[in-house]
Amino acid sequence: MSGFPEQPTPANELLDQIENLSEGDINWRGGRAFSLVYHPDDQELEGLLHEVATIYIHENALNPFKYPSLVQMETDVVDMAADLLHTQPRAGSMSSGGTESIFLAVHTARSIGEQRGITVPNIVTAETVHPAFAKACHYLKIEHRSTPLTPDLRADPDAIAASIDADTVLVVGSSPCYPFGVIDPIPELAALAVEKGTLMHVDACLGGWLLPWWERLGEPVPPWDFRVEGVTSMSADIHKYGYTFKGASLVMYREPEMVQHQWFVYDNWPGGLYGSITTAGTRPAAPIAGAWATICHLGAEGYLSKARQVRDATRGFQSGIAAIEELQVTGDPDMSVFEISAVPGSDVDIGGVGDVMDDRGWNLDRQQGGLHVMVSPYHLRVVDQFNVDLSDAVASHARSRGKAASYGGISELG
Ligand SMILES: Cc1ncc(COP(=O)(O)O)c(C=O)c1O
Repeated sequence: MSGFPEQPTPANELLDQIENLSEGDINWRGGRAFSLVYHPDDQELEGLLHEVATIYIHENALNPFKYPSLVQMETDVVDMAADLLHTQPRAGSMSSGGTESIFLAVHTARSIGEQRGITVPNIVTAETVHPAFAKACHYLKIEHRSTPLTPDLRADPDAIAASIDADTVLVVGSSPCYPFGVIDPIPELAALAVEKGTLMHVDACLGGWLLPWWERLGEPVPPWDFRVEGVTSMSADIHKYGYTFKGASLVMYREPEMVQHQWFVYDNWPGGLYGSITTAGTRPAAPIAGAWATICHLGAEGYLSKARQVRDATRGFQSGIAAIEELQVTGDPDMSVFEISAVPGSDVDIGGVGDVMDDRGWNLDRQQGGLHVMVSPYHLRVVDQFNVDLSDAVASHARSRGKAASYGGISELG
């Protein structure tokens, strides 16, 4: 299509066009995707979410006074999450996604730092934290100090300690990090933050809605949440392992008062007093209602059962990988997110393995050192086929076609 459409197009034609356009989109429904969508394998939940989205499709959460229903649901979601993550009721807000939650937490840290007289703030992270921290620092004009890992691919408390100074407003750890699925040593990092008099954020965008159930399943989970003294904020995405649709995350704090730093209030405008608690002005209502409905629908029992599926599928994939001499899982992941890499010294070209998997319809994101896997409940249905294809791919692959290690919007450029 070029230029602005002069004539209207009937709805049915547009729906046909959309069907055609989306033919090339990733097919996550068959369990062949390992990123972007967390497939809960739950038709009743999907039906509920479609209905909720329809009810709230046009509503706007910008003005809470006009929407008591949304205020109630957002408050409920925050309070339910506070219970799950072991902080206080009302100690947080919803946001549109992990990146916005991270922005808000970094902004809050900068604002608290300002109150303490810090004018040139920095934050200290391991190099495995999500790029959203670098992005937040870029936008908010904060120095990002990125530190190397220990050999087990976790944040190195010594390297972090060496980078903290009087202008550090935040130390960050991941529970777990995206590239390798390992949980950083949160108690050590939090103790450092306390000792140095700064704040500590746990990025649990991935783990926030899965680790509580992982723990209840009896899996070994190192301390990672607000039960660790010194953890002052957390990001936790409901649109990942919380299984609602996109646009729902949480930024949570140790104290309800810390949320006040998110408020932006402006009273010098002919339009009247403006107030907003997140970076967006107009806020879609459907993700708030969708998150509320999902959490209430699944409850602890539902989440536990989905966590069991994820755990069993993870074990299935990992034992398939262990059976292939030339492949390994990188490091020792703590959850259901991991990297598949070539055993050092083997002549396997892991990119070439990824190409064969692509040809067989699987979608594995390329990282710098291997192929990335994030496991969803639905994957339990496809573990066996995946393992057969992976084994064939190792046996038959050619040299990598050179698909770049990438994440997000760069993947198909250049
Ligand atoms: C650990 C971690 N933090 C933050 C994010 C950013 O979340 P979003 O893409 O919802 O902005 C992600 C996304 O995968 C992540 O894995």
